[in-house]
Amino acid sequence: MAEKKRAQFGTKLGVIAATVGSAVGLGNIWRFPYECGTSGGGAFLLIYILFVFLLGVPCICAEFSLGRSSRKGMPGSFRISGAGKGWGFFGWAAIVAAFMIMSFYAVVAGWTLEYIVDSVDGAIKNIPNTERHAQFTQFVSGWGSVIWAWVFLIINGVIMIGGVQKGIERVSNILMPLLFLILVAFCINSLLMPGAETGLEFLFKPDFSKITPDVVLSAMGQAFFSLSLGMGCLVTYASYFSDKTPLVKTSIQVAVLDTLIAVLAGVIIFPAVFSYGMSPAAGPTLVFEVLPNIFHNMPGGSIWSCLFFVLLAVASLTSIISISEIVVAFMTDEYKISRVKATVISTLLVMVLATFCSLSFGPFQKLDLFNRFDFISSNILMPLGGMGVCAFVGWRMTRTRYIKEMRKSAQVPPFLFNLVTFGIRYIAPIGVLIVFIAGLI
Ligand code: TRP
Repeated sequence: MAEKKRAQFGTKLGVIAATVGSAVGLGNIWRFPYECGTSGGGAFLLIYILFVFLLGVPCICAEFSLGRSSRKGMPGSFRISGAGKGWGFFGWAAIVAAFMIMSFYAVVAGWTLEYIVDSVDGAIKNIPNTERHAQFTQFVSGWGSVIWAWVFLIINGVIMIGGVQKGIERVSNILMPLLFLILVAFCINSLLMPGAETGLEFLFKPDFSKITPDVVLSAMGQAFFSLSLGMGCLVTYASYFSDKTPLVKTSIQVAVLDTLIAVLAGVIIFPAVFSYGMSPAAGPTLVFEVLPNIFHNMPGGSIWSCLFFVLLAVASLTSIISISEIVVAFMTDEYKISRVKATVISTLLVMVLATFCSLSFGPFQKLDLFNRFDFISSNILMPLGGMGVCAFVGWRMTRTRYIKEMRKSAQVPPFLFNLVTFGIRYIAPIGVLIVFIAGLI
């Protein structure tokens, strides 16, 4: 049987919406503000931006060129590009990481759905702030959280079955502009709060005494996570790019938009936090415990809170879609099963894993799959995968293949080209090695 023609994104806008949709997620709106809050604000932001452009953009280009030149996801892209058996390891690591990330990502995404409902039925507004923590703890430890994770995974599955153009691209084209609108509305509201300046100062005024090795490392890890790097996610998406998509330009656009949205999330959250006299350093519960306190006290709080959690849910949905595409592309490429079958099998498997992750806050506390999956994927498999792709594209893939791919549809100024290549060959693998070793320690 002749091989079926590979799916492609239909339009330029679709490419950007889907790729930015992958990058913008819980990483920007949930993780970035709390990392920034616990790591000293402005100084963290500055280092983060450096990493995004020095390390992130070259890594995105490496993933793009590997994916489009091979027209395969993981681990097939390595094989097709002439990699020996050993490289396949990185491809497999990506698949395992994808399953793990999906499992705990779905749990947090599920919480956003519960919070949307709580906003609509007034629970967020009516629960006294003193009981917020107890209420959150109780919710995440029970079956409610599991069921929401399932609901989220089922919605994801339905979109995945729609395919690359009719599923992923169409949904991204609708949801990404919506997300942007909600963000802008929030920014305006936040900037109008009394005392907004303190929050903005915290975010934008770097205090260099706050820079420690730990801050540098978490900024690098955050750049990886937020740009969807190191798991072959962008390899897979690039395998659906047309030959007309300019890789370097697209990678810069994605990096800029992703950073902009993380900064906007900061602009939304920090003024509110300071304006209501809270601490920016609350950690992972910043969005789920601190923000509801603020909505509780705010005029029109239920509406804002509903909007905020819709924003978070939308961002999570377009991201988890991109993670499941790694797995679905893998199954359809390597085992030639249909897209529907691949989606159903992977969704069921992740539903089981997500159940254990969710119940890590309750009966399965000892097993603690939630934190283990987060740790293994973010601190071990993702850096390893990122290093693998950059090392392969920088040192093993033939020069002609790489250069042809990068310059296919657009002239890249020689200076920029050399900078990106240098980043792929040196900065990224070495940087990642550092994160990796530090992550293990
Ligand atoms: N970047 C997404 C976020 O910020 C998460 C994500 C999607 C991701 N695809 C990925 C992270 C691939 C690592 C690898 O929430």
